[in-house]
Amino acid sequence: MKKSLFPFFVITLLCATAAYAQRGPEWLKNAVIYHIYPSSFQDSDGDGIGDLEGIRSRLDYVKACGFNTIWLSPVFESPFEDGGYDITDYYKVDPRFGTNTQLVELIRDAHAKGIRICLDLVAGHTSDKHPWFRQSRSADTNLQYSDYYIWSDSKSSLPTKKFVKSDAPRNGNFLKNYFEVQPALNYGYAHPDPDEPWQQGYDDPGPRAVRQEIRNIMAFWMDKGVDGFRCDMAMSLVKNDDRNHTATVRLWHEMREWIDARYPECILISEWSQPGEAIPAGFHVDLIIHNGAGYDMYSPLVCNTDDKNRPTVCYFDRAGEGQIRSFVDRYTKERHATREQGYLSMPTCSHDIWRLNRNQRNTPEELKVTMTFFLLMPWIPTVYYGEEIGMRNIEDAPIKEGSFARRNRSSCRTPMQWDTTPNAGFSTADATNIFLPVDPDPARPTVAAQTDDPHSLLSYARGLLALRAATPALGTSGDWRYVSDPNHPYPMVYAREYAGEKYIVVLNPSAQRATAQFPEEGAVADIVYGSGVPARYTVRKDLASVKAEPVSATVLRMK
Ligand code: NOJ
Repeated sequence: MKKSLFPFFVITLLCATAAYAQRGPEWLKNAVIYHIYPSSFQDSDGDGIGDLEGIRSRLDYVKACGFNTIWLSPVFESPFEDGGYDITDYYKVDPRFGTNTQLVELIRDAHAKGIRICLDLVAGHTSDKHPWFRQSRSADTNLQYSDYYIWSDSKSSLPTKKFVKSDAPRNGNFLKNYFEVQPALNYGYAHPDPDEPWQQGYDDPGPRAVRQEIRNIMAFWMDKGVDGFRCDMAMSLVKNDDRNHTATVRLWHEMREWIDARYPECILISEWSQPGEAIPAGFHVDLIIHNGAGYDMYSPLVCNTDDKNRPTVCYFDRAGEGQIRSFVDRYTKERHATREQGYLSMPTCSHDIWRLNRNQRNTPEELKVTMTFFLLMPWIPTVYYGEEIGMRNIEDAPIKEGSFARRNRSSCRTPMQWDTTPNAGFSTADATNIFLPVDPDPARPTVAAQTDDPHSLLSYARGLLALRAATPALGTSGDWRYVSDPNHPYPMVYAREYAGEKYIVVLNPSAQRATAQFPEEGAVADIVYGSGVPARYTVRKDLASVKAEPVSATVLRMK
């Protein structure tokens, strides 16, 4: 009897271990990410540009808000032709941000405060000024870095519109990944075309060397204490991949196996925006991008303008004309498919995506409703610096360092607003000499003004994060169920449950009162959090009805 049960126990144990390893380190379950654009956060040396020492001096602020993980946009050596996403040395901090030693000190201090640090891994391309690329331009194609990039074998034709006409001694043109100054690293072609012998396969020496280099870069920083990486354009590494990105999935799968074996406490976050692919590929977290650029099922929530700068209707606008159905359907499906393996995260915005305070969403009350949504979903919250105080999107901020890409990305990169000292406390440099101008509005929000104001957005966001941290049902462990009718968009009502505890979240971002009816969810124990006049929940004959006041958020604990 004992003997026959043995294999069963072993299999159960193996399955349990596999499931745990898939979801990643334990700390990730409670991670709340703060995304910092390093040039814009805090300048410590008066040169007008944010730096690592500046970030280090603000760790207590980050912690007091309730964030426990920082994702830094790239801090590596760069000519800044795409805001640092164009790297010339992955092993070196750019002098404008400080030194490698200062990065290690930042990590050390952050860890001492219980904060993890994730870096940005730009794996898809380098700067065209990178020594690897300079060498690969040589007519001699047998050098160490000759095959680090994708070169055609003739100058007279451009195989696709992504190829850039080159003036290099090498006979051929190169593939760009984003801007022309960002040549694509060579991860090979999923199915090399025999008629184009310059296309290399996944297992050819060039792509193998590039994969090894990326591992070396990650190991270099993880050995210095880094806790993970946000992987830029993660889905696009292997070229001419199939619809399911099979070869790129294989690549990340191999990276993840290596990380699990050597750095099991570290994580990989993807810029992929298709959790159904990214999570099984090996990412611990997939970022949902909602800038309207091909991810339209999600974008109607907070975007105000589509990719071509045309106004769009959004759910979280006071006009109350948005729809919620496509979000509910897609989110439900993707969460269901990935919840045992990893996490989703929908950032409030980013260095590429407009801030929440824009167009039809400006008042602290409107921003509080939106923030309730971002912070009480089961995903891992990611908040871009300054969103917690409601910084404005500055539409006419000057284009800087490649910030224009179909739209003006400087608008969401202006300096953090700390206080009423010059440059809002961001820098002691002359105002004409800082990275980007500070929001000129004399009434601009600041950390100083909001810290002790119990009605401020900052206090509200801090309270939300404290509530989430204390309430497993509202965190990543809790179930999520959309409760109201998704065809009747306002208010949005969803349930969060864990171990017999149940919460109902009612959000009405519109300027009109809104009601919803649904099968009853029990009785209200108390109102635990919210903004505006609380929604009223009543039950009659098994039917619950919720009356939500204009621009209100209500979190109910149920009996
Ligand atoms: C995505 C990054 O977020 C963006 O800022 C950058 O321009 C492109 N990838 C290219 O690296």
